[in-house]
Amino acid sequence: MEFGTRTIHAGQPSEPNTGAVVAPIFQTTTYQQIAPGEHHGFDYTRTSNPTRKRLETVLADLEGGRHCAVFGSGLAAENAILQAYLKPGDVIVVPVDVYGGTFRLLHKVFEPLGAVVRRVDFSDLSALEQAVAERPKLVWLESPTNPRLLVYDIEAVTRVAHAAGAIVVVDNTFATPYFQQPLALGADLVVQSVTKYLAGHLDVIQGAVIANDRAVFEPVGFLQNALGGVPSPFDCWLTLRGVKTLELRMERHAQNAAAIADALQRHPKVKRVYYPGLPSHPGHAVAKRQMTGFGGMVSFELDGTPEEASQFVSSLTYFALGESLGGVRSLVCLPCKMTHAAIPAETRAELGLSDTLIRLSPGIEHPRDLVGDLEASLDRVGARG
Ligand SMILES: Cc1ncc(COP(=O)(O)O)c(C=O)c1O
Repeated sequence: MEFGTRTIHAGQPSEPNTGAVVAPIFQTTTYQQIAPGEHHGFDYTRTSNPTRKRLETVLADLEGGRHCAVFGSGLAAENAILQAYLKPGDVIVVPVDVYGGTFRLLHKVFEPLGAVVRRVDFSDLSALEQAVAERPKLVWLESPTNPRLLVYDIEAVTRVAHAAGAIVVVDNTFATPYFQQPLALGADLVVQSVTKYLAGHLDVIQGAVIANDRAVFEPVGFLQNALGGVPSPFDCWLTLRGVKTLELRMERHAQNAAAIADALQRHPKVKRVYYPGLPSHPGHAVAKRQMTGFGGMVSFELDGTPEEASQFVSSLTYFALGESLGGVRSLVCLPCKMTHAAIPAETRAELGLSDTLIRLSPGIEHPRDLVGDLEASLDRVGARG
């Protein structure tokens, strides 16, 4: 079955009692038992729920895995992995530019509990080899990264990590399973902020963990119930609805991102464009090999002042100024004042996060409108400058 067919059919037969082609939302906390301890497979919704189970089946299928647990947010999913695998004294290796929420969770919650966090440049495999000499429990990466869209070689990182006995976790939020299959590239666990492209409509906060190997998955599956960070049946149903159009949406997001990257590259008010589809992008060759498309995100540096960057992001018509990404409506963000404001200015500078770096999450509007909107606002910046 092809990907676009699986988004609609995997784990989603018509409802057996009525034939409804869309299964109802099982908005229930509990289930009537036949006799004490004898039931139809469900006893309490924190533990399991038919709507959530449908979603877990389809998300596992799309990532090419056998097991999935969904959570009330991407960070709740990350927390379950870290609680399952990171004990006091254990080492976790992450890229220098790991997503800020992951870094905060590690730094503020798991380091005080005794975990040891090592930040490494994952584009330098010899640095990674040195880091894994410490025998880390987990090696954790994203690709492409947020917001500079750096691309790391998942297969190569996995090889180095596995040789040292580490479990490899890939945050596949930016690429989605449509463009990238980390489990097939050797990763052990995939984590998703379902909030983004999978749900896709800017109306659900949710996360997921997917694995192939039951033994690797089991501790995380246990914590889904034990920690209790589960999403509501209604939110699971919204994601089931959203994910049906994942292929169509990702194609349009990617088409829009490519058109925007091309236009930005030619604009005199743009200093640099970050988009893995550009041959000039340092990770282009790896992206071409490990992804089936370049994703839907574009970042760029404005050739102007920080004030002009602020004015630019506030003056767009179709791009709403807001956090998050991956929705049908276009979003724009100024990381230094928004998503990455908590990072000290010197660290931001080290990571190449300048005060004029702008992150775009093109939606699925028509590319001409989006490019036109960006060009018109850039021209206004030029006129003021
Ligand atoms: C790459 C990445 N991973 C994880 C998360 C966390 O997901 P959530 O916001 O659903 O908790 C985010 C959120 O922005 C993200 O961008």
